[in-house]
Amino acid sequence: MQGLLTGKVVVVTGAAGGIGSEVVRRCAEEGAAVLAVDRDAGGLDRVLAGLPAGSRVRPFAVDIAAPDAMAAAFGSARDAFGGVDVFHANAAVQVMGGLADTTAADWDRMYEVNQRAVAAGIREVVPHLRERGGGTILVTASLLALTGDADLPMYGATKGALRALCRSVAAAYGRDNIRCNTICPGDVDTPMVREFFDYQPDPDQARADVERKYPLGRLASPRDVAEVAVFLASDRASYLSGIDVVVDGGLLARIY
Ligand SMILES: NC(=O)c1ccc[n+]([C@@H]2O[C@H](COP(=O)([O-])OP(=O)(O)OC[C@H]3O[C@@H](n4cnc5c(N)ncnc54)[C@H](O)[C@@H]3O)[C@@H](O)[C@H]2O)c1
Repeated sequence: MQGLLTGKVVVVTGAAGGIGSEVVRRCAEEGAAVLAVDRDAGGLDRVLAGLPAGSRVRPFAVDIAAPDAMAAAFGSARDAFGGVDVFHANAAVQVMGGLADTTAADWDRMYEVNQRAVAAGIREVVPHLRERGGGTILVTASLLALTGDADLPMYGATKGALRALCRSVAAAYGRDNIRCNTICPGDVDTPMVREFFDYQPDPDQARADVERKYPLGRLASPRDVAEVAVFLASDRASYLSGIDVVVDGGLLARIY
């Protein structure tokens, strides 16, 4: 059966995590071959073990911030599947704490994973996408690229930078038939957001308070975000480039 991504090769980072693992699953279900990239090799094994038989998914364990990591990943995708059509830069780290509570080393770590490694990955993937006559780049940014959070100032700053990066990439490579868009999720029910709640004095109350703020009355599921990624990666989104797709259950729409 034809899926939305049949014939495409997708490389996704953060593939062992909450959102990334669901992107892997949905892309595979839609017919893509997928290179699942994460530094957590055991986590990748667990994700692959949960996929339906016949899924064309390979693990690639690497720290994306290491030199040449993404060049090696794209080379591996080409060896395994013949090329690359979609790069989803999704991995990130967050260090909780206000500016006064975090160190320059914390800021550097967030910069090198969330921002520099994404730029390096995009630089490496462009020649692969050109070889295929074009392709798509997706970047998981965050609602914190558009709003502020007292406990995540530098994390938010890295995500804001990704919005700007994505626009420049869309401008630079449009003539190569390369599209680039960000996905900006609100709170998604993954280990990352649970870490945020655990940092608060009363985690259960914090979660309930956050859920109440959403017009839809709940956090996003990883699936809510993965469906947007599949759409943006597919040819159905053929004229979307340089935009932010906000996946926030209506949160930004409401003041009171
Ligand atoms: N969960 C949320 O509420 C939320 C909201 C907005 C944006 N996001 C963004 O969504 C993306 C996915 O987050 P998630 O919620 O699935 O988090 P997660 O913690 O479940 O997954 C993140 C994954 O990235 C991997 N990773 C981290 N650093 C890496 C590195 N240097 N090299 C390779 N892999 C690395 C981790 O091993 C992990 O598997 C991130 O970019 C995050 O900033 C999450």
